[in-house]
Amino acid sequence: MVEQAAGKGLEGEGRAALSVDLPSARKRSRDDPASGRQPANDETTSPYSLFRHLQRAKKPSSTVGIGVVGYGYWGPNLVRNFAECGGARMVAVSDLSVERLTEVHARYPLVKVTTDARDILADRDVDAVVVATPVSSHFELAMRALEAGKHVLVTKPMTADPVQAMELIEAAEQRGLVLMVDHTFVYTGAVQTIKQLVAGESLGQIYYYDSVRVNLGLFQKDVNVLWDLAVHDLSIMDYVLGQEPVAVAATGSAHVPGHHVNLSYLTCYFDGSLITHHHVNWLAPLKVRRTLIGGARQMIVYDDLEPSEKVKVYDKGITVVGDQRGKVETMIGYRTGDMWAPQVSLVEGLRTEAQHFLECVTHRRQPLTDGYCGLRLTLILEAAARSLSRRGQPEALLMECPRGVEAPIELGRISKSA
Ligand SMILES: NC(=O)c1ccc[n+]([C@@H]2O[C@H](COP(=O)([O-])OP(=O)(O)OC[C@H]3O[C@@H](n4cnc5c(N)ncnc54)[C@H](O)[C@@H]3O)[C@@H](O)[C@H]2O)c1
Repeated sequence: MVEQAAGKGLEGEGRAALSVDLPSARKRSRDDPASGRQPANDETTSPYSLFRHLQRAKKPSSTVGIGVVGYGYWGPNLVRNFAECGGARMVAVSDLSVERLTEVHARYPLVKVTTDARDILADRDVDAVVVATPVSSHFELAMRALEAGKHVLVTKPMTADPVQAMELIEAAEQRGLVLMVDHTFVYTGAVQTIKQLVAGESLGQIYYYDSVRVNLGLFQKDVNVLWDLAVHDLSIMDYVLGQEPVAVAATGSAHVPGHHVNLSYLTCYFDGSLITHHHVNWLAPLKVRRTLIGGARQMIVYDDLEPSEKVKVYDKGITVVGDQRGKVETMIGYRTGDMWAPQVSLVEGLRTEAQHFLECVTHRRQPLTDGYCGLRLTLILEAAARSLSRRGQPEALLMECPRGVEAPIELGRISKSA
């Protein structure tokens, strides 16, 4: 029994929560509509409401009440960060699995738990909903949350297609609500540092952005490897370069019958000579998380697996000398200068992101990774899917997505540490 297992070793206020057999409570009301299911937010009789009273007693109402839907692999990281953020009240968690909710309760006895996300949407203590479920359910959950007047933070990729993304943007704008996408890497010290370096123009004109994100990874059931892994690189690229591709081309292969493409090479073409390439693979023997950014004056190597020196700047490049009309070989001069590793904030990206979301909700600001940011990525991914099915034929992209916040968020100045 869930009650017995979960109740072991727990003391104090939290014990009240475990008197609720969530699945059977739900089952009763669904199986027998005539029994008159209590409204999800019934103040007097719903055991869920017990937690509300405890929460009210514990935290000031000036903080932002957070409800998280989805407590699988990524949800616990979101819950932990919001639970530890000063401006947040971690109010409730929903998951379809009672085992997952039992874990929530063991760790956060005052947080309400429910197998029915509608409880969270109807909860007046919840100001903002974090959607951390598989992408196929993002649109419905996020839309319902917006319709219920809640701000929304949705995990990547924002939606399963661009039309859904646009509908969410419209719904949030109509209601004056914050809609943010969890593009976690954008909030890391490493990416913030790279953004400053690129924006500061010390690299010169950017020629290329080349990323590799491979490992022996979990084969996702609902999306291919581009929607699972490349979305991280596209979010970094979108933020660092601040411009949209005009065309994309993707090739790839599915090596397991009945499964999605597990290896892919995605190329994005931009106006001018800028080009980006993203190699993603769930079937690699080694974990690699490495990006090269080539500029006319300097180049960056970003290795996310490096414990401290994640970003290295190489003062290397070429100089074109002599008669431009002469032979190419005689015109290229090679420059090999110093390498330095800027100091990078090691604050967890998700913590910075959670704080940013709270600030945006509190002050009604446009997030760094807003709905348009999510939309741009779904447009790229959708075009990549078309290209994949045509064996790499380039697909044109016409993007008119406004860019909101562009500046790096405050993580301190870059200093030369090596
Ligand atoms: N930013 C990152 O670095 C990062 C890393 C991993 C995953 N993610 C994203 O997080 C999301 C979740 O991924 P995951 O790996 O945790 O998946 P998961 O399958 O491990 O967990 C999803 C959980 O959602 C629950 N769920 C599904 N539908 C629900 C519903 N209607 N109501 C309540 N609960 C529901 C499931 O029971 C499950 O426990 C995805 O969008 C994924 O892309 C982001």
